[in-house]
Amino acid sequence: MLKVRHLSKNYVSGTQIIRVLKDVSLEVKKGEFVAVMGPSGSGKTTLLNCISCFIPHEEGEILLAGQDLSGLQETKLAKVRNRQMGFVFQDFMLLDGLTVFENICLPQIIARRPVAQMEEKAKNICRLFGIEKILNQYPAEISGGEKQRTAVARALMNQPYVILADEPTGNLDSKSCKTVIDAFLQAKEEMGATIFMVTHDSFAASFCDRVIVLKDGQIYGELTRKGTRRAFMDELLDTIRTLGGDDHDYA
Ligand SMILES: Nc1ncnc2c1ncn2[C@@H]1O[C@H](COP(=O)(O)OP(=O)(O)O)[C@@H](O)[C@H]1O
Ligand SMILES: [Mg+2]
Repeated sequence: MLKVRHLSKNYVSGTQIIRVLKDVSLEVKKGEFVAVMGPSGSGKTTLLNCISCFIPHEEGEILLAGQDLSGLQETKLAKVRNRQMGFVFQDFMLLDGLTVFENICLPQIIARRPVAQMEEKAKNICRLFGIEKILNQYPAEISGGEKQRTAVARALMNQPYVILADEPTGNLDSKSCKTVIDAFLQAKEEMGATIFMVTHDSFAASFCDRVIVLKDGQIYGELTRKGTRRAFMDELLDTIRTLGGDDHDYA
């Protein structure tokens, strides 16, 4: 579904060129839930921003359902982002002046989809995520976990090829974190969603099918979940310790 091939990205700061991503190649298959972990500054957010083409890259290809996004013009990219990608951010990015229901419907309004169909879809997703009771409330009136489930619901509305999530549980306590991960798992299981998530949290990552470890802008390794979630979490914690520092140093 998503293929990144030989991606390189530099930032220019004054006279300095900082190589942030160095020959990164990865693949996320349809229906897979994949996490990227790595120390703070290893290039996780840059990788996500390159995939969504919010920032340009120097070398490499980004293929979404076979289409190379690298050369696309901004108007075409806007369409790809609205219809083929769903976004979930650490700070929710909900519009305060809109209700939960209106926030969720926004991508469909932008894509000019029929209203009746849109409402039906939004209600089904909200039922699945257990947020049907808060549809008429405003973001300021709901909890962090509810805000992020609203954001996940919004990301799913156009049935995107992939959901891109940057630290989606970063601002949540452990109980709310689990409700958001559950929403991703339900999206995957019930709707066949493909999810690519950046996280520093071994607990959140341990629910994924696969975890890609990034270090200094390069792929350091990859772990596939085989046994129990608990065993996978221990494996992830071990890998992070080997990289240097403990779990709390990772952001
Ligand atoms: N706009 C920018 N200009 C210059 N350097 C940047 C910019 N954005 C990020 N960086 C640098 O690129 C590296 C990777 O950053 P980032 O992708 O945010 O890492 P992560 O999300 O893993 O913490 C860091 O060293 C950061 O300082
Ligand atoms: Mg980041």
